[in-house]
Amino acid sequence: MNILGIETSCDETSGAIVRNGNVCSTVISSQLCHSSFGGVVPELASREHERLIVSIVDAAINEANITKNELDAIAATAGPGLIGAVMVGLSFAQGLAWALGVPFVPVNHIEAHIFSPFISEGAGHHAPEGPFVSLTVSGGHTLLSVVEPDLSYSVVGRTLDDAAGEAFDKTGKMLGLPYPAGPVIDKLAEEGDPSFHQFPRALTSQSQSSKSWQGNFDFSFSGLKTSVLTWLQRESPEFIELHKADIAASIQSAIVGVLVEKSMGVARSRGIRALSISGGVSANSALRRAMQEACDREGVMLYLPKMLYATDNAAMIATLANLKIARGLKAECRYNIAPYASFAAAARRRD
Ligand code: KG4
Ligand code: ZN
Repeated sequence: MNILGIETSCDETSGAIVRNGNVCSTVISSQLCHSSFGGVVPELASREHERLIVSIVDAAINEANITKNELDAIAATAGPGLIGAVMVGLSFAQGLAWALGVPFVPVNHIEAHIFSPFISEGAGHHAPEGPFVSLTVSGGHTLLSVVEPDLSYSVVGRTLDDAAGEAFDKTGKMLGLPYPAGPVIDKLAEEGDPSFHQFPRALTSQSQSSKSWQGNFDFSFSGLKTSVLTWLQRESPEFIELHKADIAASIQSAIVGVLVEKSMGVARSRGIRALSISGGVSANSALRRAMQEACDREGVMLYLPKMLYATDNAAMIATLANLKIARGLKAECRYNIAPYASFAAAARRRD
Protein backbone atom coordinates (compact mmCIF):
# COMPACT_ATOMS: atom_id res chain seq x y z
CA MET A 1 0.00 0.00 0.00
CA ASN A 2 1.77 3.19 -1.21
CA ILE A 3 0.22 6.50 -0.15
CA LEU A 4 1.46 9.81 -1.53
CA GLY A 5 0.99 12.73 0.88
CA ILE A 6 1.08 16.38 -0.19
CA GLU A 7 1.31 19.43 2.10
CA THR A 8 1.11 23.08 0.97
CA SER A 9 -0.91 24.85 3.69
CA CYS A 10 1.62 27.55 4.59
CA ASP A 11 5.23 28.11 3.50
CA GLU A 12 6.51 24.54 3.12
CA THR A 13 5.99 22.58 -0.10
CA SER A 14 6.24 18.91 0.80
CA GLY A 15 5.66 15.44 -0.65
CA ALA A 16 6.08 12.06 1.06
CA ILE A 17 5.45 8.37 0.46
CA VAL A 18 4.18 6.08 3.22
CA ARG A 19 4.35 2.37 2.41
CA ASN A 20 2.41 -0.03 4.65
CA GLY A 21 2.45 2.56 7.42
CA ASN A 22 6.15 3.44 7.20
CA VAL A 23 7.61 6.61 5.71
CA CYS A 24 9.86 5.84 2.70
CA SER A 25 10.56 9.40 1.59
CA THR A 26 9.94 12.96 2.78
CA VAL A 27 10.87 15.94 0.63
CA ILE A 28 10.38 19.43 2.10
CA SER A 29 11.15 22.80 0.54
CA SER A 30 10.88 25.79 2.89
CA GLN A 31 10.14 29.10 1.21
CA LEU A 32 12.76 31.75 1.88
CA CYS A 33 11.00 34.53 -0.06
CA HIS A 34 9.07 35.74 3.02
CA SER A 35 11.98 36.56 5.35
CA SER A 36 12.26 40.25 4.46
CA PHE A 37 8.49 40.76 5.06
CA GLY A 38 8.48 39.57 8.69
CA GLY A 39 5.74 37.02 7.99
CA VAL A 40 4.30 34.79 5.27
CA VAL A 41 2.91 36.70 2.25
CA PRO A 42 -0.03 34.54 1.05
CA GLU A 43 0.20 35.36 -2.66
CA LEU A 44 3.95 34.67 -2.74
CA ALA A 45 3.39 31.38 -0.89
CA SER A 46 0.84 30.18 -3.48
CA ARG A 47 3.15 31.07 -6.36
CA GLU A 48 6.09 29.25 -4.79
CA HIS A 49 3.97 26.12 -4.23
CA GLU A 50 2.83 26.30 -7.86
CA ARG A 51 6.44 26.61 -9.03
CA LEU A 52 7.69 23.65 -6.97
CA ILE A 53 4.83 21.19 -6.59
CA VAL A 54 5.62 19.01 -9.64
CA SER A 55 9.32 18.61 -8.83
CA ILE A 56 8.74 18.02 -5.09
CA VAL A 57 6.16 15.29 -5.73
CA ASP A 58 8.38 13.68 -8.40
CA ALA A 59 11.32 13.72 -5.96
CA ALA A 60 9.23 12.07 -3.20
CA ILE A 61 8.11 9.31 -5.61
CA ASN A 62 11.64 8.77 -6.96
CA GLU A 63 13.21 8.63 -3.50
CA ALA A 64 10.76 5.89 -2.54
CA ASN A 65 11.92 3.91 -5.60
CA ILE A 66 8.47 3.61 -7.09
CA THR A 67 6.62 5.04 -10.09
CA LYS A 68 3.33 6.95 -10.13
CA ASN A 69 1.55 3.80 -11.30
CA GLU A 70 2.41 2.07 -8.02
CA LEU A 71 0.48 4.62 -5.93
CA ASP A 72 -2.61 3.18 -4.20
CA ALA A 73 -3.99 6.42 -2.75
CA ILE A 74 -3.19 10.12 -2.62
CA ALA A 75 -3.72 12.38 0.40
CA ALA A 76 -3.37 16.15 0.71
CA THR A 77 -4.04 18.88 3.23
CA ALA A 78 -7.54 20.30 2.64
CA GLY A 79 -7.12 22.94 5.40
CA PRO A 80 -6.80 24.82 7.64
CA GLY A 81 -4.20 27.12 6.12
CA LEU A 82 -3.74 29.94 3.63
CA ILE A 83 -6.54 29.21 1.21
CA GLY A 84 -4.57 29.87 -1.99
CA ALA A 85 -1.65 27.80 -0.72
CA VAL A 86 -3.88 24.89 0.31
CA MET A 87 -5.59 25.04 -3.08
CA VAL A 88 -2.34 24.41 -4.99
CA GLY A 89 -1.58 21.09 -3.27
CA LEU A 90 -5.21 20.02 -2.99
CA SER A 91 -6.00 20.63 -6.68
CA PHE A 92 -2.78 19.01 -7.80
CA ALA A 93 -3.39 15.95 -5.60
CA GLN A 94 -6.99 15.49 -6.75
CA GLY A 95 -6.01 15.94 -10.41
CA LEU A 96 -3.27 13.34 -10.09
CA ALA A 97 -5.53 10.91 -8.20
CA TRP A 98 -8.22 11.28 -10.88
CA ALA A 99 -5.71 10.76 -13.69
CA LEU A 100 -4.32 7.63 -12.02
CA GLY A 101 -7.76 6.35 -11.00
CA VAL A 102 -6.81 6.02 -7.31
CA PRO A 103 -8.75 7.22 -4.23
CA PHE A 104 -8.12 10.64 -2.71
CA VAL A 105 -8.03 11.24 1.07
CA PRO A 106 -8.47 14.84 2.31
CA VAL A 107 -6.54 15.50 5.53
CA ASN A 108 -7.00 18.14 8.22
CA HIS A 109 -3.55 19.71 8.78
CA ILE A 110 -4.00 20.08 12.56
CA GLU A 111 -5.14 16.48 12.96
CA ALA A 112 -2.04 15.44 11.00
CA HIS A 113 0.14 17.41 13.48
CA ILE A 114 -1.64 15.65 16.39
CA PHE A 115 -0.51 12.23 15.10
CA SER A 116 2.98 13.35 13.96
CA PRO A 117 4.70 11.98 17.13
CA PHE A 118 3.64 8.51 15.95
CA ILE A 119 5.05 8.70 12.41
CA SER A 120 6.82 5.42 11.77
CA GLU A 121 9.96 4.94 9.71
CA GLY A 122 9.90 1.17 10.02
CA ALA A 123 10.61 0.47 13.67
CA GLY A 124 6.96 -0.12 14.50
CA HIS A 125 4.22 2.10 15.71
CA HIS A 126 4.33 3.45 19.22
CA ALA A 127 1.00 5.22 19.70
CA PRO A 128 -0.28 4.85 23.27
CA GLU A 129 -2.93 2.19 23.89
CA GLY A 130 -5.23 4.50 25.81
CA PRO A 131 -6.22 8.16 25.44
CA PHE A 132 -3.55 10.84 25.35
CA VAL A 133 -3.42 14.60 25.84
CA SER A 134 -2.24 16.41 22.72
CA LEU A 135 -0.70 19.89 22.70
CA THR A 136 -0.48 21.18 19.11
CA VAL A 137 1.52 24.38 18.93
CA SER A 138 2.38 26.01 15.62
CA GLY A 139 2.52 29.41 13.98
CA GLY A 140 -1.23 29.38 13.43
CA HIS A 141 -2.63 27.13 16.17
CA THR A 142 -2.49 26.39 19.88
CA LEU A 143 -4.77 23.52 20.68
CA LEU A 144 -5.12 21.20 23.68
CA SER A 145 -7.13 18.08 23.01
CA VAL A 146 -7.81 14.62 24.38
CA VAL A 147 -7.34 11.95 21.72
CA GLU A 148 -9.02 8.54 21.90
CA PRO A 149 -7.57 5.31 20.48
CA ASP A 150 -10.13 5.37 17.64
CA LEU A 151 -8.53 8.68 16.43
CA SER A 152 -11.50 10.77 17.59
CA TYR A 153 -10.60 13.74 19.77
CA SER A 154 -12.20 16.51 21.77
CA VAL A 155 -10.74 19.99 22.02
CA VAL A 156 -10.38 21.08 25.67
CA GLY A 157 -8.48 24.35 25.18
CA ARG A 158 -7.40 26.74 22.48
CA THR A 159 -5.89 30.18 22.19
CA LEU A 160 -8.19 33.15 22.57
CA ASP A 161 -5.87 35.34 20.47
CA ASP A 162 -2.34 34.63 19.19
CA ALA A 163 -0.90 31.15 18.65
CA ALA A 164 2.20 30.12 20.65
CA GLY A 165 4.40 30.24 17.52
CA GLU A 166 3.01 33.67 16.73
CA ALA A 167 3.96 34.80 20.25
CA PHE A 168 7.55 33.68 19.58
CA ASP A 169 7.60 35.27 16.11
CA LYS A 170 6.03 38.61 17.08
CA THR A 171 8.00 39.20 20.28
CA GLY A 172 11.15 38.13 18.40
CA LYS A 173 10.40 40.72 15.74
CA MET A 174 10.23 43.35 18.50
CA LEU A 175 13.73 42.22 19.52
CA GLY A 176 14.88 42.72 15.92
CA LEU A 177 15.12 39.02 15.11
CA PRO A 178 14.39 37.66 11.60
CA TYR A 179 11.22 35.69 10.70
CA PRO A 180 10.45 33.07 11.90
CA ALA A 181 11.87 34.12 15.26
CA GLY A 182 10.91 30.94 17.17
CA PRO A 183 14.05 28.94 16.37
CA VAL A 184 16.25 32.08 16.79
CA ILE A 185 14.86 32.72 20.29
CA ASP A 186 15.43 29.04 21.11
CA LYS A 187 19.12 29.35 20.14
CA LEU A 188 19.67 32.78 21.74
CA ALA A 189 18.01 31.67 24.98
CA GLU A 190 20.68 29.00 25.51
CA GLU A 191 23.03 31.81 26.58
CA GLY A 192 20.43 33.75 28.56
CA ASP A 193 18.92 33.88 32.05
CA PRO A 194 15.21 32.92 31.99
CA SER A 195 14.58 34.68 35.31
CA PHE A 196 16.02 38.00 34.01
CA HIS A 197 12.52 39.46 33.65
CA GLN A 198 9.14 37.99 34.64
CA PHE A 199 6.76 38.42 31.69
CA PRO A 200 3.03 37.72 32.28
CA ARG A 201 1.58 34.21 32.04
CA ALA A 202 -2.10 34.73 31.31
CA LEU A 203 -4.78 32.39 32.69
CA THR A 204 -2.33 30.47 34.92
CA SER A 205 -1.60 30.14 38.64
CA GLN A 206 0.98 32.92 38.26
CA SER A 207 -1.41 35.37 36.69
CA GLN A 208 -2.76 37.99 39.08
CA SER A 209 -5.60 39.12 36.85
CA SER A 210 -7.25 35.72 36.55
CA LYS A 211 -8.74 34.21 39.73
CA SER A 212 -10.52 31.41 37.91
CA TRP A 213 -7.55 30.01 36.04
CA GLN A 214 -7.92 26.51 37.46
CA GLY A 215 -9.54 24.13 35.02
CA ASN A 216 -9.36 26.75 32.30
CA PHE A 217 -7.32 25.23 29.52
CA ASP A 218 -7.55 28.13 27.08
CA PHE A 219 -4.50 30.25 26.26
CA SER A 220 -3.93 33.95 25.70
CA PHE A 221 -0.65 35.39 24.42
CA SER A 222 -1.65 38.92 23.41
CA GLY A 223 -0.91 40.29 26.91
CA LEU A 224 2.62 38.90 26.72
CA LYS A 225 3.09 40.63 23.37
CA THR A 226 1.98 44.00 24.75
CA SER A 227 4.05 43.53 27.89
CA VAL A 228 7.23 42.80 25.88
CA LEU A 229 6.58 45.82 23.64
CA THR A 230 6.02 48.32 26.47
CA TRP A 231 8.93 46.92 28.50
CA LEU A 232 11.30 47.17 25.50
CA GLN A 233 10.14 50.75 24.82
CA ARG A 234 11.22 51.73 28.34
CA GLU A 235 14.74 50.31 27.96
CA SER A 236 17.62 51.79 25.95
CA PRO A 237 18.83 50.14 22.71
CA GLU A 238 22.21 49.50 24.38
CA PHE A 239 20.57 47.71 27.33
CA ILE A 240 18.43 45.59 24.99
CA GLU A 241 21.42 44.67 22.83
CA LEU A 242 23.48 43.76 25.91
CA HIS A 243 20.69 41.57 27.37
CA LYS A 244 19.21 40.16 24.15
CA ALA A 245 19.83 36.55 25.22
CA ASP A 246 18.36 37.17 28.72
CA ILE A 247 15.24 38.77 27.20
CA ALA A 248 14.85 35.91 24.70
CA ALA A 249 15.20 33.38 27.54
CA SER A 250 12.62 35.29 29.66
CA ILE A 251 10.09 35.40 26.79
CA GLN A 252 10.64 31.72 26.06
CA SER A 253 10.23 30.84 29.73
CA ALA A 254 6.87 32.68 29.90
CA ILE A 255 5.50 30.86 26.82
CA VAL A 256 6.86 27.45 27.81
CA GLY A 257 5.64 27.83 31.42
CA VAL A 258 2.06 28.36 30.26
CA LEU A 259 2.18 25.46 27.78
CA VAL A 260 3.52 23.03 30.40
CA GLU A 261 1.12 24.10 33.17
CA LYS A 262 -1.98 23.80 30.97
CA SER A 263 -0.99 20.48 29.37
CA MET A 264 -0.16 18.85 32.70
CA GLY A 265 -3.41 20.28 34.11
CA VAL A 266 -5.44 18.38 31.52
CA ALA A 267 -3.52 15.12 32.13
CA ARG A 268 -3.97 15.47 35.92
CA SER A 269 -7.66 16.41 35.86
CA ARG A 270 -8.55 13.53 33.54
CA GLY A 271 -6.15 10.95 34.97
CA ILE A 272 -4.45 10.52 31.58
CA ARG A 273 -0.93 9.01 31.61
CA ALA A 274 0.24 9.93 28.09
CA LEU A 275 0.91 13.30 26.51
CA SER A 276 2.21 14.45 23.14
CA ILE A 277 3.46 17.76 21.77
CA SER A 278 3.39 18.52 18.05
CA GLY A 279 3.59 21.42 15.60
CA GLY A 280 6.47 23.78 14.86
CA VAL A 281 6.86 24.97 18.47
CA SER A 282 7.37 21.34 19.60
CA ALA A 283 10.87 21.76 18.13
CA ASN A 284 11.62 24.20 20.97
CA SER A 285 14.33 22.74 23.20
CA ALA A 286 13.17 24.46 26.42
CA LEU A 287 9.61 23.19 25.88
CA ARG A 288 10.86 19.65 25.27
CA ARG A 289 13.02 19.79 28.40
CA ALA A 290 10.41 21.36 30.70
CA MET A 291 7.61 19.06 29.53
CA GLN A 292 9.84 15.99 29.96
CA GLU A 293 10.69 17.06 33.53
CA ALA A 294 7.03 17.66 34.38
CA CYS A 295 5.99 14.32 32.84
CA ASP A 296 8.75 12.44 34.72
CA ARG A 297 7.59 14.06 37.98
CA GLU A 298 3.98 13.01 37.44
CA GLY A 299 4.48 9.60 35.83
CA VAL A 300 3.21 10.63 32.41
CA MET A 301 4.69 9.20 29.20
CA LEU A 302 5.76 11.97 26.79
CA TYR A 303 5.64 11.52 23.01
CA LEU A 304 7.51 13.96 20.75
CA PRO A 305 7.82 14.08 16.96
CA LYS A 306 11.24 13.77 15.34
CA MET A 307 12.55 17.28 14.55
CA LEU A 308 11.93 16.68 10.84
CA TYR A 309 8.23 16.03 11.55
CA ALA A 310 7.72 18.87 14.09
CA THR A 311 7.31 21.58 11.45
CA ASP A 312 5.08 21.24 8.37
CA ASN A 313 5.70 18.11 6.32
CA ALA A 314 3.85 15.68 4.06
CA ALA A 315 4.87 12.52 5.98
CA MET A 316 2.29 13.43 8.63
CA ILE A 317 -0.37 13.87 5.93
CA ALA A 318 0.29 10.44 4.38
CA THR A 319 0.60 8.85 7.86
CA LEU A 320 -2.81 10.12 9.01
CA ALA A 321 -4.39 9.00 5.72
CA ASN A 322 -2.87 5.55 6.32
CA LEU A 323 -4.16 5.45 9.94
CA LYS A 324 -7.63 6.43 8.75
CA ILE A 325 -7.65 3.74 6.06
CA ALA A 326 -6.34 1.19 8.60
CA ARG A 327 -9.16 2.19 10.99
CA GLY A 328 -11.76 1.45 8.32
CA LEU A 329 -12.18 4.71 6.42
CA LYS A 330 -13.12 3.79 2.88
CA ALA A 331 -10.91 5.94 0.63
CA GLU A 332 -13.20 7.31 -2.05
CA CYS A 333 -12.78 8.21 -5.69
CA ARG A 334 -14.18 11.72 -5.17
CA TYR A 335 -12.17 14.56 -6.57
CA ASN A 336 -14.28 17.59 -5.71
CA ILE A 337 -13.07 18.42 -2.19
CA ALA A 338 -12.85 22.19 -1.62
CA PRO A 339 -10.16 23.79 0.58
CA TYR A 340 -11.00 25.45 3.93
CA ALA A 341 -9.06 28.18 5.73
CA SER A 342 -10.02 27.78 9.39
CA PHE A 343 -10.20 25.01 11.98
CA ALA A 344 -13.80 26.03 12.75
CA ALA A 345 -14.71 25.56 9.07
CA ALA A 346 -13.12 22.11 9.19
CA ALA A 347 -15.29 21.14 12.16
CA ARG A 348 -18.43 22.02 10.20
CA ARG A 349 -17.42 19.83 7.29
CA ARG A 350 -17.57 16.08 6.68
CA ASP A 351 -15.23 14.92 3.96
O1 KG4 B 1 3.93 23.86 12.26
P1 KG4 B 1 4.67 24.97 11.60
O2 KG4 B 1 5.87 24.61 10.73
O3 KG4 B 1 3.74 25.81 10.66
C1 KG4 B 1 2.43 26.14 10.99
O4 KG4 B 1 1.52 25.31 10.72
O5 KG4 B 1 2.28 27.24 11.57
O6 KG4 B 1 5.10 25.99 12.76
C2 KG4 B 1 5.85 27.15 12.51
C3 KG4 B 1 6.03 27.88 13.84
C4 KG4 B 1 6.65 29.27 13.69
O7 KG4 B 1 5.91 30.18 14.48
C5 KG4 B 1 8.06 29.08 14.27
O8 KG4 B 1 8.59 30.25 14.86
C6 KG4 B 1 7.82 28.01 15.31
O9 KG4 B 1 6.89 27.13 14.70
N1 KG4 B 1 9.05 27.29 15.66
C7 KG4 B 1 9.66 27.39 16.87
C8 KG4 B 1 10.83 26.59 16.81
N2 KG4 B 1 10.90 26.02 15.56
C9 KG4 B 1 9.80 26.46 14.87
N3 KG4 B 1 9.32 28.08 17.97
C10 KG4 B 1 10.12 27.98 19.04
N4 KG4 B 1 11.26 27.25 19.05
C11 KG4 B 1 11.66 26.54 17.98
N5 KG4 B 1 12.77 25.81 18.01
ZN1 ZN C 1 1.51 23.22 10.73
